Amino acid sequence: MLAYLDHQASTPCDPAVLTAMAPWWSEQCANPSSRGHRPGLSAAAAVERARAQVAAALGTEPGWVVFTSGATEANNLALKGVAEAALERGERRRTLVSLVIEHRAVLDPLHYLERHGFPLRLLPVDGGGLVDLEALEAALSPDVLLVSVMAANNEIGVLQPIAAIARLCRRHGVLLHVDAAQAAGHIPLAMAELGVDLLSLSGHKCYGPKGVGALLVRPGLPLAAQIHGGGQEEGRRAGTVAVPLVVGLGEALARAVADQGERAGRLGGLRDRLWSDLEAIGGIARNGAAAPRLAHNLNLTVAGVDGAALHRLLRRSIAVSSGSACSQGSPSHVLAALGRSRAEAAASIRFGLGRGTTAVEIALAITAVREAVGQLRG
Ligand SMILES: Cc1ncc(COP(=O)(O)O)c(C=O)c1O
Repeated sequence: MLAYLDHQASTPCDPAVLTAMAPWWSEQCANPSSRGHRPGLSAAAAVERARAQVAAALGTEPGWVVFTSGATEANNLALKGVAEAALERGERRRTLVSLVIEHRAVLDPLHYLERHGFPLRLLPVDGGGLVDLEALEAALSPDVLLVSVMAANNEIGVLQPIAAIARLCRRHGVLLHVDAAQAAGHIPLAMAELGVDLLSLSGHKCYGPKGVGALLVRPGLPLAAQIHGGGQEEGRRAGTVAVPLVVGLGEALARAVADQGERAGRLGGLRDRLWSDLEAIGGIARNGAAAPRLAHNLNLTVAGVDGAALHRLLRRSIAVSSGSACSQGSPSHVLAALGRSRAEAAASIRFGLGRGTTAVEIALAITAVREAVGQLRG
């Protein structure tokens, strides 16, 4: 038996989501832009139903939703779209502000924009991985155009104080983008009420299909399209809308939001048991603040073992992520920001529990780590 404990990398598609998607692959193949016949109108109606589901899951209206291929594309559209629109209207605000622990799907577009005339301020985080609100406010000078902060970190699971950040942004006339790829469908997120201007999410992080996501945008916010063509998504993202995928995204998010409270309670209990048994081994430290954090995440560093050897032993019985997996082999910039050395990052383990995780799998993970650490420490 292999226990899959890497749900922050990807979640299994909910069987009910697969069922909802099924007719839209072949039986109902029409293009949702074909408004001249019934099959086309029916596909368009399915897309609009999915749009309403996504909007409702995030506490907004359907007009806020732009379907994309995932959170990476949504982040690129948000950041480059806002910057280019500001350039077009001769806006004097140009500076972009974000955190050093953001996902590369935010950091890379920000660095791209920096090379194209948009100064970038990347703020450090405290030892627990949280933003310093005073430092953030101090960074909000009159030239700042946009702040981008993730709701939940993909490696260490900590939750940033989005409501407080949104208040600061509003006070200083700055736009706020939130990468919610790890948060949507996992924690309550009322985007409009929070005062967030742009929000990205991804289907496969919340029990939906891969290859689909959305950017939610406050109506009227100037945003330059990054993909040009047939004018779909009200000109904000051209290309035929992937009907089965957006139907899957809508269904997955609706279901994830419906059971997120129950899931967090159950998985939080399993995660706490995992942590208390692993902590008892000794020489194991948790990465990231104990709270606020996602209930299904635990990230820890094992002292006195070689990271590569540790993960070689673990992969025999559990699927987890190491402190390097997220950035394709290079050590985690998130763990580095928390002060972890290269060797410590390599000897780190990210557990991502999910809807199907059982107590038996947690027991298996505890045994796997205990035996591997015992063997490597001699
Ligand atoms: C916080 C965060 N943002 C963005 C992404 C990118 O999502 P996708 O690969 O689905 O585009 C991920 C995926 O790991 C993520 O964890």
